[in-house]
Formats: sequence, structure tokens, C-alpha cells
Amino acid sequence: MTGWVRIAGLGPGDDALITPEVTDVLAQATDIVGYIPYVARIAERPGLTLHASDNRVEIDRSRHALEMASEGKNVVVVSSGDPGVFAMAAAVFEAVEDGPADWRNLDISVLPGITAMLAASARCGAPLGHDFCAINLSDNLKPWSLIEKRLRLAAEGDFAMAFYNPRSKSRPEGFVRTLDVLKEACGDDRPVIFARNVTRSDEEIRIVPLSQTTPDMADMRTMVIIGSSRTRIIPRDGAPLVYTPRSTPE
Ligand SMILES: C[S@@+](CC[C@H](N)C(=O)[O-])C[C@H]1O[C@@H](n2cnc3c(N)ncnc32)[C@H](O)[C@@H]1O
Repeated sequence: MTGWVRIAGLGPGDDALITPEVTDVLAQATDIVGYIPYVARIAERPGLTLHASDNRVEIDRSRHALEMASEGKNVVVVSSGDPGVFAMAAAVFEAVEDGPADWRNLDISVLPGITAMLAASARCGAPLGHDFCAINLSDNLKPWSLIEKRLRLAAEGDFAMAFYNPRSKSRPEGFVRTLDVLKEACGDDRPVIFARNVTRSDEEIRIVPLSQTTPDMADMRTMVIIGSSRTRIIPRDGAPLVYTPRSTPE
């Protein structure tokens, strides 16, 4: 008998943003696998085993999930946000590709979630209302030279940009360089959104012109979004609205 693997997104933090599909599959699971803070969001119940593991062991975690499914377990691999965005879905498929041939025939599917970029965007208006790209600023799995190339090309293409993993304690210099590149390539007054802990009780949103940004405005719990040259701010009482018009004139 074989079980299944579901790779599920828990959304950005607020349980109200977990999809009904993910809630259903969590109720059917025998085993939950994931990074410690994400597994901590799952309520314990009889018949459910929680397997929390540390960061940066994504492939080991994936193999464990696939092994358990081969033994007949119903396994949910949890990610924050969406599991396909800089998260566990790609790790599980890497493990499938490199693993035993019979893993390819397992019942595996990906259940989407609300990614941090969209939750952050929604909090401020519609900064991603026209063409945009998402860039992971961590250089753990790719060289900094590639990040810088993508930043420059995205600026040249006048994309709005959403940055995941902007600044960790172990590599604070990357975000310093990111802001330097953006200031050089985008000019001074582009709106930048720092959205920290979006949809959680300690959510903080700051909207500042690019010229006033400093590296300490971001950490690993922050989503950073920079507008395109067309992005607009509507001042009003309280927080302004930020949006990028749907059209670009010829
Ligand atoms: C490894 S990535 C995982 C992204 C996740 N799969 C998603 O779709 O949101 C982690 C990064 O996502 C961003 N992030 C995740 N949840 C967030 C939240 N609630 N508020 C702000 N940023 C968040 C931060 O940039 C963080 O460093």
C-alpha cells in the first residue's frame, strides 16, 4: 500500500488565509513534515505525527516525506506562503528526480497558498498591478553576480520587483549592495515598501522613497517591494495607497 505526499502552503501567517483545500488535507494527514516554525502552526491530534526540522535541510526533509509515503503514510509537507515560491515544492521534486525510480510513481501534488509578496502588495494597494518580477536575494543557492545581473535587467525592463529573503544576519552586505544597485539604476523617488510580518499580530508596513531607504529597514521577516517608474502614491489620511497603473503609454 502506498500513501501520498501533499506539499501545502500555509499562507503568510494569519490562519484565515489558509485555503480550505489545505485545511482539508491537514485533517487527513498522518504525518506533517516541515521547518520548525511552520510545523508549530499545526494543531496536534491523535493519529498525527509532527516532524519538525531545522532550516537548510530541505532535501533530507523531502526524502523523509517520500520514504514515509512509500510506506503508506499520508504526508503533508508544509511551507509558509506558497510552497512553489522559494520553498519546499521544488526541493521535493529535486529529491524525486535524484531518488529511487519508484518515487516517481507516488501520488504527489502541490496545494497553493498565498505568497508573502501578494499579501504584502494587498496591504498597500496594488504595487504589482502591472508587470513585475520576484527575486530571492539570498545567495545561499546562487552567486551574488547572478542576483546583481537580474536586479539590473529588471530595472532596465522597468519591472516592479518583489524581494524575498532580503537580509539575514549572516549576509547583511547583500541588501546593502541591492539598495546601491537600485539607487543607481532606478533614481531616487521610486516607492519602496517594507512589509514585515504581514498578516501577523506584529505586522509593520513602511513606504519610503528609494533615496531614504537604509539596509536596516529589512530583515528575514520582511518582504520588500519596489515600484516601477509608473508606480504611484495616493496620499490620504493614514497610510497612503500605492499602485501601479495597468497600462503603459506608447
Ligand atoms: C524562504 S522564503 C519563503 C517564501 C514563501 N514560500 C512564500 O510564498 O511566501 C521566506 C521569505 O518570505 C518572506 N516572507 C514570508 N512570510 C512573510 C510575512 N508574513 N511577511 C513578510 N515577509 C514574509 C520574507 O522575505 C522571508 O525572508
